Amino acid sequence: MNKQLTLFLALGMFFWMIQSCATSSKTASMEKFEYTAAVNSIVQDKCYGCHSADGRSDKAKQALMWDNVPTMTADEQAHILDEIMEVTSERKMPPSRFVESRPEKALTDEEIATFQKWAKDMMAVVEKSK
Ligand code: HEC
Repeated sequence: MNKQLTLFLALGMFFWMIQSCATSSKTASMEKFEYTAAVNSIVQDKCYGCHSADGRSDKAKQALMWDNVPTMTADEQAHILDEIMEVTSERKMPPSRFVESRPEKALTDEEIATFQKWAKDMMAVVEKSK
């Protein structure tokens, strides 16, 4: 083998290794149930006031406690993810009576898309862990 070919192959190996490291660390971050920063900030602003320990309605707390979801079983998580996909895409949450007096709390199209993408990604993670 001549020198140039050896160098070419070595460089190729080097970049291939860097590439596969980068890809594996990317998938590793999506292997457990977690809230992304984008989802977290929407939830804090528009959902947490009702669906948290200090929430203002018992019914809302019974239906969903954001802080408890990460430690639920995979079956429970899948169920909650289904509900989240439904209530966000159909604009059922925040409740219309609440949004009437606080229109700034309605979800924007972009926020709905953020919820849908996250819930879909998480559903894949949850299904794999079952
Ligand atoms: C003003 C209080 C309030 C806010 C804000 C709110 N929710 Fe709810 N949520 C409720 C109540 C009350 C229920 C119980 C079901 C019902 O009576 O409609 C509920 C139920 C749910 C459920 C369970 C499905 C169902 O229909 O029972 C999900 C999922 C949900 N909410 C997601 C959200 C998300 C996501 C947000 C933020 C975008 C949000 N909620 C904001 C009050 C609220």
